Amino acid sequence: GKVAVLMGGASAEREISLLSGNAVLAALRARGVDAHAFDPAEQPLWALHDEGFTRAFIALHGRFGEDGTVQGALEALGIAYTGCGVLASAIGMDKWRTKLLWQAAGLPVPDFRMLDEDSDFEQIAQALGFPLFVKPACEGSSLGVTKVRSLAEFRPAFDAARKLDKLVMAERFVGGGEYTCAILGTRALPSIKIEPAGDFYDYEAKYFRDDTVYRCPSGLSPELEAQVGAYALRAFEVLGGKGWGRIDFLMDEAGAPYLLEANTAPGMTSHSLVPMAARAVGISFEDLCIDVLARASL
Ligand code: DAL
Ligand code: MG
Repeated sequence: GKVAVLMGGASAEREISLLSGNAVLAALRARGVDAHAFDPAEQPLWALHDEGFTRAFIALHGRFGEDGTVQGALEALGIAYTGCGVLASAIGMDKWRTKLLWQAAGLPVPDFRMLDEDSDFEQIAQALGFPLFVKPACEGSSLGVTKVRSLAEFRPAFDAARKLDKLVMAERFVGGGEYTCAILGTRALPSIKIEPAGDFYDYEAKYFRDDTVYRCPSGLSPELEAQVGAYALRAFEVLGGKGWGRIDFLMDEAGAPYLLEANTAPGMTSHSLVPMAARAVGISFEDLCIDVLARASL
């Protein structure tokens, strides 16, 4: 039957979603799938039903797409869709509640504090130390994230994040390197080490800079690689994840991994990480798209 590749949408990550979606669309078509682009910002989702779509590949990032809302609508329409269901998508979009669940499951997360207008920024800075990260709880692609080095920078960073979300957190800096682990079905793919040329793996470094270095294999010891994979699978399981996803990590200086966040509709652009990890184990971009689609369910 007809497959809709959902892309675009109304989130701050719209442009990235269009890159992901068009790449997925081309790959599915190259494999003979009757796939069509569908932008929920331009057409209501019930049009999917009227136009005879039976499955949807969700290439939406951020709110109104990666956060359970679109998943719920597809459930109601009876259209099978890729990736996580309503609950895992909704929790995964919220870094605060994700961390609470992971902490409860005994998984390591960097120490953090939630911020509001009345927070004692000085006291929080003392508790977490500088540098620290300020981020909106419910955004993706590092939008609204600032690395804060002094008390003077703290409040402006909060204000910037607060423009994107009501929930804002300050997070302890963990400085032993950035890693990510993709999940396909029930399998953890090899981890990737990300070495941004700039300050951290921000929006520019993610999509536009050609000087971000990616290492896959990441160079972790076999023991640590196995631990990262096991943590990623457990973290995904705790959220109720299925299909595919990507768990981001930081390593501390002693080589202990900390879980940062879950991405339940990971990027599929030419610079993206899941395709890179798949390629490392011989899964082409087209194979990856077909595999993710084959796991679509209701
Ligand atoms: N939020 C972006 C798309 C990612 O995680 O890949
Ligand atoms: Mg993310």
